[in-house]
Amino acid sequence: MLDLGSGSGTDVFAAASAVGTGGKVVGLDMTEEQMEKAERLRREAGLPQVTFSRGYIEDLPFPDNSFDCIISNGVVNLSADKPAVFREAARVLRPGGRLALADIVTERPLTPEIVCNADLWAACVGGAAQAGSYRSAIADAGFTIEQQERNNYGFLSGRARAATTTYGVMSLSFLARLSE
Ligand SMILES: C[S@@+](CC[C@H](N)C(=O)[O-])C[C@H]1O[C@@H](n2cnc3c(N)ncnc32)[C@H](O)[C@@H]1O
Repeated sequence: MLDLGSGSGTDVFAAASAVGTGGKVVGLDMTEEQMEKAERLRREAGLPQVTFSRGYIEDLPFPDNSFDCIISNGVVNLSADKPAVFREAARVLRPGGRLALADIVTERPLTPEIVCNADLWAACVGGAAQAGSYRSAIADAGFTIEQQERNNYGFLSGRARAATTTYGVMSLSFLARLSE
């Protein structure tokens, strides 16, 4: 299993207990500091089935057909090239592999002022795609979306909360499968 944008490893460690010691979980993140913290926590927890790799979700440092399953939580919205993220996910998954995502999307297009605001990007709002184009990017990469659910998610900052109402910013979960 591969976790895209694994941060300090919370989801990787949950996945490690799901796959057990006979499985393998890889966390990938672009940030050296996150990798160091995640690796320290891994050592302390004694999880031999977990490794961390530094890299970008748009250009994965893995060969084709390397994984059965990819997960990602709150990360793809931060990418300026979402089609590349899903193309890379399709490349490193085996045929029929699963992609399970939770991410922030919008109902309506964001204004250039929001998209160009670095604080709102960091708050997972500025880079959020419209739900329809997000789903299309997943499908264009060769996946079929099998499930979609809206999550109960609240933003902390006032501007982010305002955008939630005005632009329909929301958290969705997707389960998609790569064609065989
Ligand atoms: C909101 S955090 C989510 C972390 C983790 N998934 C969680 O739920 O705790 C976003 C993470 O994605 C990483 N990230 C953002 N853009 C990335 C990219 N293009 N490639 C790799 N990692 C990225 C950041 O370094 C950060 O650790």
